[in-house]
Amino acid sequence: MSSFTRNVLMPLVLVGVFSSASNASQSFVNDLLVEVTNSLDGNLNLTIVCQNFRPGRFNIQPGKIQQWLYSGPISPVFPLNCNFRWPGASHYSNLYNPNLDSDCELCHWYIHQNGPCRKHVIGGKLQYRFSRWAS
Ligand SMILES: *[C@@H]1O[C@H](CO)[C@@H](O)[C@H](O)[C@H]1NC(C)=O
Repeated sequence: MSSFTRNVLMPLVLVGVFSSASNASQSFVNDLLVEVTNSLDGNLNLTIVCQNFRPGRFNIQPGKIQQWLYSGPISPVFPLNCNFRWPGASHYSNLYNPNLDSDCELCHWYIHQNGPCRKHVIGGKLQYRFSRWAS
């Protein structure tokens, strides 16, 4: 490689590496609408605690919906990873993983005892994405 080629190409290669690395680890969303319906069996209140955005704590009565609008950085583990509690249970789930949920502008999750389920429309057809509790 001539020194001319090396001097011109190296910075371009580095720019490419850095921008793809930052895309992979973090992206941004604008006006992401997230809704959560308490679909627990047994008429239980659901409490959601989200550490990384405001307002970060909700109490949702049986059958009721909580919604919020989020704009900002997003990654597979941040910031919509929330704690879901009802009597005798405490679980975590991420309400928006850009690798799995980028198909929804309105992400509506139905919280069941065995995990959250998201309803979404693809090609005019109603689909479901069932997500296991992360812990
Ligand atoms: C659910 O929460 C509401 C409002 O805080 C309260 O009035 C109600 O008693 C709670 N229900 C149960 C089953 O804990």
